[in-house]
Amino acid sequence: MISRSAFPQWNESDARARLTSLIREHDGPVLLCLQDVQMVYGFVPTAAVELIAELCNVSRADVTGVLTFYADLRTTPPPAIPVRLCAAEACQAVGGRALAQAWQQACDQDDQLAVDTGVDEPIFCLGNCALGPAAMVGGQLMGRATVMSLKERVAGIRDGGRSSVGGES
Ligand code: FES
Repeated sequence: MISRSAFPQWNESDARARLTSLIREHDGPVLLCLQDVQMVYGFVPTAAVELIAELCNVSRADVTGVLTFYADLRTTPPPAIPVRLCAAEACQAVGGRALAQAWQQACDQDDQLAVDTGVDEPIFCLGNCALGPAAMVGGQLMGRATVMSLKERVAGIRDGGRSSVGGES
């Protein structure tokens, strides 16, 4: 298992200082606070919901409502190497749907790959349409992705390097 050390552990006093400053500078700051927490910690833990509600003087239900409305906000830690496949039209026209199915099969057959990369959360256009099917692997853009090139990129990131397979853009 590889480390999730890309993000620090939740720290309420640090978060309180960051968010207090952010709230002082902006009106209607609930979404900004949620985005800030996710940027720092990788996701929004329950403790952050309580803290944001307190600091913004709103209910936890209000914060939860905003949190659950935006699909990009997470309530669980992200996988170590998230793999997101483009599900938009241009990539579908060049095999994106078949790639998504093949990637799912690869993860079904390899528990460690599934744990490391998480459930594919489709993304809609990465601006890499000419090199479809496109993917984002551990935050790195890939073009002309295949199951093999995705696996190689994941392995490269696991090993601490940056593989260059798969038609980078
Ligand atoms: S449609 Fe996939 S990158 Fe644009």
